[in-house]
Amino acid sequence: MNIKNLISGMTLKEKIGQLNQIAYIPQNIDGIEDRIRSGSIGSIILSQTAFAGNDSPCSIDYEKANRLQRIAVEETSSHIPILFGRDVIHGHKTVFPVPLAMSASFNPELIKESYECIAKEAYNDGIKWTFAPMLDMSRDARWGRIIESAGEDPYLAQKVGEAVIKGFQGDDYSDAGRLCACAKHFVGYGASEGGRDYNRTEISEYTLRNFYLKAFKTAVSAGVGTVMSAFNEISGQPVTSSRYLITDILKNEFGFDGFVVSDWEAVKQLINQGVAETEKDCGEQAFNAGIDMDMVDDIYNKYLPELVEAGKISEKAIDEAVYRILYIKDKAGLFDKPYTVPVSADKSYTAEKAKEMAAESMVLLKNNNNILPLSASCKVYLDGPMQNDARSILGSWTLDGIAEETVTVSQGIKRYVMPVSDVSDADIVILALGESHTVTGEAHSLSMVDMPKEQAELAKKYKEMGKKTVGIMNFGRPIAMEDAEGYFDAILYAWHSGSQTGNAIADIIFGKVNPSGHLPATLPRRTGQIPLYYNFTKGSREVNEYYDHRQDREIYNYDDCEGSPLYPFGYGQSYTKFEYSNPKILENKENKEFVVGITVKNTGAYDGKELVQCYVCDDIASMMRPIRELKGFQKVFLKKGEEKEISFKLGYEELGFYNKDNKFAVEDGTFTVFMGGDSFCQNEVKLIYKK
Ligand code: BGC
Repeated sequence: MNIKNLISGMTLKEKIGQLNQIAYIPQNIDGIEDRIRSGSIGSIILSQTAFAGNDSPCSIDYEKANRLQRIAVEETSSHIPILFGRDVIHGHKTVFPVPLAMSASFNPELIKESYECIAKEAYNDGIKWTFAPMLDMSRDARWGRIIESAGEDPYLAQKVGEAVIKGFQGDDYSDAGRLCACAKHFVGYGASEGGRDYNRTEISEYTLRNFYLKAFKTAVSAGVGTVMSAFNEISGQPVTSSRYLITDILKNEFGFDGFVVSDWEAVKQLINQGVAETEKDCGEQAFNAGIDMDMVDDIYNKYLPELVEAGKISEKAIDEAVYRILYIKDKAGLFDKPYTVPVSADKSYTAEKAKEMAAESMVLLKNNNNILPLSASCKVYLDGPMQNDARSILGSWTLDGIAEETVTVSQGIKRYVMPVSDVSDADIVILALGESHTVTGEAHSLSMVDMPKEQAELAKKYKEMGKKTVGIMNFGRPIAMEDAEGYFDAILYAWHSGSQTGNAIADIIFGKVNPSGHLPATLPRRTGQIPLYYNFTKGSREVNEYYDHRQDREIYNYDDCEGSPLYPFGYGQSYTKFEYSNPKILENKENKEFVVGITVKNTGAYDGKELVQCYVCDDIASMMRPIRELKGFQKVFLKKGEEKEISFKLGYEELGFYNKDNKFAVEDGTFTVFMGGDSFCQNEVKLIYKK
């Protein structure tokens, strides 16, 4: 498609129409046909509210979308197809674990394969564009949207984001069964103060570049088609009106060549944010910042013509925005294949993949006396509010998932054993605990993320009865459970893991699957410790004892709570044991590029997967650097008794940082590298970097 030629034949009104996205569900609204015919719709988001995350399901189908597409293609003067979008966040009809849980798998390949399945199902319902991956690094479990994120670490978010984009888009997203992805929310939304959604954010340029922007830069390199701007502000300026962030950094510095869509009504909300007086001002500011497409406020449609007329917006800039949108429509194959022709999507393969992904995401936190796995002959008593809850375990942002087709915890367990009806007959009590999806996701935050009192009481009751208790934690977010942790002999953090939650839990607790998930976010002891994350910068005195349990010295922390987490970032047990030895530098290329290695051995009684992690600390630098930062991980399968040497490359990318001049550079000096099975790992080597 020669897009420039196409644009040169379009009227200003037609061009502006392409910058406009409306919300619409084919069943609900009449009169849409004429709006399409008038050429004023570039994209349709198949959604009914701004809070679609926890909305009741409303089905869509490809034939209705094709009917509307036919009007755009055949009955408008420009014949430009519509881009249909929908929030396909962690599954379509088959629901996969919430993104935070998938991130706990530390398995980008499996994440990619999962999103390939998700893309096919969504495509078959007429969707060609999704609003994922969400790349908002989050250090605050009170924020309901932490469940949509990859967790607290930028490196992990880079790897996960890349996998999601590859899964959705493949090598060529014009192919049937592929979707165009959208990296969101650019940038800093995860820093919402106090975890309150839509709240203000305070992020320094240093932290922005070294933490929050990283995953977006990688997403651009991975070829993400679109980016969604965030509601929040940076340094007092809403992102929606920030030319610095959208145009200078995202488009020019990162080289993003797709288009930027605003968040839902974010253009209009510049009025709420107090930087614009009228809708017209909003349109001018957002457009001139570089927001190419206006999500649902209809402001571009209404005001851009007069803003161009008045010389406040140049037609050249309009052409550039239209170019970006048509370029992506072309890459999505819409000019050649505007209509959805469903591809074959094997339902049972997708269900298997969802089960594999769910099992790979679950994190074994505790397993006293190797109480797990259970044998199928053991007598189990099942209790807890989540045992039959099919909807909550699907998680937030499940627009098309079907609760009736979800395997509950109880159904999963019954595939192995029939629970006894009297607890006194039981060898083991399994408690299915957790939270409702309605307290997670968009516009849902909590002031307290401690384990709900009544659930802790329930666990206490069985402890006092002398029962061995296994806690299954179906929470979307990290919770603080210091007070209850002692009541459990074993804890499996099972998240909101989607359609196959029950099967995956049962496969783990009965030993068919050896757990290998690791925490993508710190589990604090108590809510009041938040924000608590592993990659904090060093302090003048020791205000953060994340890594330090020693009681024999003064640490300036809380007087009423230990400063360390209950379970740190990267933590996760297996049924087998892994031992590390022999950390070393394997290669040193001119003191600039290094390969470090460590030997890991499976010394336990089961075959299993270990997550080998590599952290780096810049010992002395011109700026305060994190005490350690994840710079590599590999999940390795080791048979009983097997050992392998695992290696990591460390060079410019891994050792550098954005300095006080906002320039990325590596500084000469020593770096300590830590390798092992979680962020507390102590096997270290020293590197000396020299330019
Ligand atoms: C959310 C986005 C979402 C959009 C469309 C907004 O309120 O912040 O993440 O993609 O709605 O549903």
